[in-house]
Amino acid sequence: MIASEFTQRRQQLMEQVGKGNIAIIASAMIRTRNRDVDYPFRQDSEFYYLTGFNEANALAVFIPGRKQGEYILFCQEFDEKKALWEGAHAGLEGATREYGADDSFPIDDLGDILPGLLENKSKVFYPMGRDSDLDHQLMEWITHIRSQTRSGINAPGELVSLEHTLHEMRLIKSPAEIALMQKAADVSAKAHVRAMQRCQAGRYEYQIEGEMIHEFIDNGLRAVAYPSIVAGGENACVLHYTENKAVLKSGDLLLIDAGAECDHYAADITRTFPVNGVFSIEQKLLYQLVLDAQLAAMQEIKVDTPWNKAHEASVEVLTTGLVELGLLTGDVQTIIAEEGYKVFYMHRIGHWLGMDVHDVGDYKINDEWRVLESGMVLTIEPGLYIPADCATVDEKWRGIGIRIEDDVLVTEQGYQILSHAVPKTIAEIEAIMQE
Ligand code: GLY
Ligand code: MN
Ligand code: MN
Repeated sequence: MIASEFTQRRQQLMEQVGKGNIAIIASAMIRTRNRDVDYPFRQDSEFYYLTGFNEANALAVFIPGRKQGEYILFCQEFDEKKALWEGAHAGLEGATREYGADDSFPIDDLGDILPGLLENKSKVFYPMGRDSDLDHQLMEWITHIRSQTRSGINAPGELVSLEHTLHEMRLIKSPAEIALMQKAADVSAKAHVRAMQRCQAGRYEYQIEGEMIHEFIDNGLRAVAYPSIVAGGENACVLHYTENKAVLKSGDLLLIDAGAECDHYAADITRTFPVNGVFSIEQKLLYQLVLDAQLAAMQEIKVDTPWNKAHEASVEVLTTGLVELGLLTGDVQTIIAEEGYKVFYMHRIGHWLGMDVHDVGDYKINDEWRVLESGMVLTIEPGLYIPADCATVDEKWRGIGIRIEDDVLVTEQGYQILSHAVPKTIAEIEAIMQE
């Protein structure tokens, strides 16, 4: 991502915050996994979105109109020993020179400097409830300033959530963001194809997960956007299955929900295919139904269409098909009205996608489903899950779980499927698996 894009975002934020106010946002922290071992560091999405700064122990302050500089970055000072043991870090100089901060201070001096910056500001824009230590600190500083009002210093009177402003910005993706999401989707697509090619009865779910991760890392994407779901047979009916330790059986389907992260942007792709490369009759019927539901949902992806339309289209197709196949009985519209389809389709059609796999942004505005806009990215992921112990359906359907998930960019002309490179028709999948 080029530096000017971060600058532009900060300017946009600054306009929303307004003169006389201040915005504060902290980096993520390093978390301990176990003694002397940390979890891989992942920067806070919001902090990264505004700063492009990928270090822990940092805090950004925005003060629109401040003469000495509007953007202040608190970070770790450069330390030779730290550089030797842990590697590169920007230091105070790097914060201004490479990351565009107007001013930088050691994070250890936060308590001496930040209270002064809060003086005489009206509103503090701040994401409350993410870091209780910092929440507490901030309250203490504000209380302290309040105790000094007799000396003519005013304390901020209002704490405002920073989320709404930032989330609306993040919801609409720029061309540079779309390029990163396309790369995440392309690499993830290659991984899904590799999984299809290397799937065999007798291999284990974790081995197929390994094939996916090989492809991610081989292409330079070391982080997964979320833990991969590699679920053979009835494991696919557990929506958040991540054990990935069962052996794959001929005659079962394999559901894989996996995506890589590219410079903090996620892909989120699901494919379901037969372990032995050929769909059985029942698998084919249900698979085609899910695919038809997905295609019907895609038809509703256009500018100015309420977001919920895609979900409704998928419900209509799935319910009609389930009645035709005899898995549900009764009148289609009544089943839809009573949500009877939820026994087999219990989640929604999808979600916003971006720096976070379940990305930020409101789905409703004033209680109404919001309409799609060019630059939004969302997943379209209908599924059917017939539990192994489902007594209401014929035995032949039981234990089948299917989901097909693509990443879709809304454009002025309609939409673009970022994850288009993974095959999804029955014929394409069977062909690729038999190569
Ligand atoms: N992989 C998470 C989801 O599909 O929502
Ligand atoms: Mn998803
Ligand atoms: Mn997914």
